[in-house]
Amino acid sequence: MSEVKITVRPNGPYRVEGPVKLTDAEGHEWDLSGKPAFSLCRCGASVNKPFCDGTHSKIGFQAAEAAVRAEEGNPPGFPVKI
Ligand code: FES
Repeated sequence: MSEVKITVRPNGPYRVEGPVKLTDAEGHEWDLSGKPAFSLCRCGASVNKPFCDGTHSKIGFQAAEAAVRAEEGNPPGFPVKI
């Protein structure tokens, strides 16, 4: 069985690699054939949701964990690299 890898991009999308099925709220599946990897929007500003269209860079999106770390002054112990 192939492994799915999801990478959180700094102040950007979730990069998804591996064989996955992606469905909307009604269960309709996106055709991801020929796409071994894709990026899911994390900022909420993409006009091509659920996919990232690069808008996060234009709007200066800052991910929540970066804001929390700056506010608390110390990085949390999560995530753990395996
Ligand atoms: S994360 Fe890229 S457009 Fe939202």
